[in-house]
This record gives sequence, C-alpha cells and structure tokens, in this order.
Amino acid sequence: MNNWPYPHIVAHRGGGKLAPENTLAAIDVGARYGHTMIEFDAKLSKDGQIFLLHDDNLERTSNGWGVAGELAWSDLLKVDAGSWFGGEFKGEPLPLLSEVANRCRQYGMMANIEIKPSTGTGTLTGKVVALAARELWAGMIPPLLSSFDIDALEAAQQAAPELPRGLLLDVWRDDWQAITTRLACVSIHLNHKLLDEARVRMLRDAGLHILVYTVNQPARAAELLRWGVDAICTDNIDTIGPHFQP
Ligand code: G3P
Ligand code: CA
Repeated sequence: MNNWPYPHIVAHRGGGKLAPENTLAAIDVGARYGHTMIEFDAKLSKDGQIFLLHDDNLERTSNGWGVAGELAWSDLLKVDAGSWFGGEFKGEPLPLLSEVANRCRQYGMMANIEIKPSTGTGTLTGKVVALAARELWAGMIPPLLSSFDIDALEAAQQAAPELPRGLLLDVWRDDWQAITTRLACVSIHLNHKLLDEARVRMLRDAGLHILVYTVNQPARAAELLRWGVDAICTDNIDTIGPHFQP
C-alpha cells in the first residue's frame, strides 16, 4: 500500500458545523480543536482566481446571489460569507486558495482540496487548482486532491502528476477500479452509506486508501475505522475530535 501521511480525522469544509463552512474562520475553529487536516471545496472565478465555495450558487452560504463561477473576483470579494451562519461572523469573506494555504502553513495542517468545478469547467479547474496547489503547498505535506469530476482529476493528473489524487463517489460505480487505475489515484472517497465491511476489504485489497464522508455519528465513525477505513471526514469536529479512537 502506498505511503499515506494523512490523519484519521478530517474537518469537513474547514470547521464543520461550528463556523461558516469553507471560510478562514472555519479553518481557525478546526485548528482550535486540534485538527490536523481539513477538507474544503475549491472553484474558479470567471477571471481564474481559485476560491472556496461548496455550491454553484452563492445564495445558501453568503449574501451574494447567482452563479459564483460567472463572477469576477472583484465582485466575489465583496460577498459576506459569514452572516448567514451567525452575527459574530459578519463580513467573513470567501477565501482564496492562497489564503487557505497560508493558514495550513501557519497551523501545520494538511489539506484535502476537493476540486469542485462550476458546470462545464472541469478540465480548466482541475488544471489551475493542481498547478496552484503545487506552488502554494511547496515544502508542506502535499495536499490530497479529490473530485467527483473525472475530467478535473484527469487534468490535475496531467498538470501536477506528483500530487496525490482521490476519486470521489456519491453513488457506487462498478468501474471504480478502471477509473482509479487510469488516474493513478491513491485513494477513493466515498459516501459512508455506500460501504460495508466487504467493500472496505475489496478496496483495500486493490491498493486504495479509503476516505469516507460525511460521518457525524461517533459510533459509525468507530465502526468504519475498525473495518479499515483510513480517514473520516466529519462536520462534528468537537465530538469526533482529532484524537478519536474506535
Ligand atoms: O470530500 C468529501 C465531501 O466533502 C464531498 O461532498 O458535498 O460535502 O462536498 P460535499
Ligand atoms: Ca467537499
């Protein structure tokens, strides 16, 4: 099995449920709880800046509106991505990937960068994010790149083949092995509901590390770790803390 430097517990969207997702404030909360790895969602602005946002649209997690990838960074940086979560986060901006890398360096945190392209931008986003990640994470443990978008993963592989990649699946695919082999993935990242113990064994026997999302129940996290899953991605960064043991 290939080298896997990452911890068992990963803070989903930075700091899960304790701060507005995919912001620097969320990463700060994750660090305060002692987490050593964060997951977050990266996409491109219309003018090629890489920033964090989960949805295609701005409405759910900010005071902006419309498709984020159709806006220039000069518009996106005016968006308040904190007030929707709570008054104390008023004015929290959408972070650039470069700012997130600086936080990771400051805290000594590892990263799982989910490449989350806006519709139709998979190849471009995969390439730009991988090239930026190579530069921004220089000298740190390499960020683990993952995506549901196979074009994005393929572009990341071509642009920065040395960065580890993981295939994300929300529904089971029987061709998982063909895809992970072609893209030279080190890991497969699955909705935990897709897994039973036999599938964990099968994936591990194929030489893949396994990350599961989004696991918010400690009993389920313990079960998955006992089965041999490598990492749990959780919103509940307080109850499933960095030292969680099955
Ligand atoms: O990377 C795991 C997980 O974050 C994927 O689902 O929708 O939370 O981005 P989602
Ligand atoms: Ca994600």
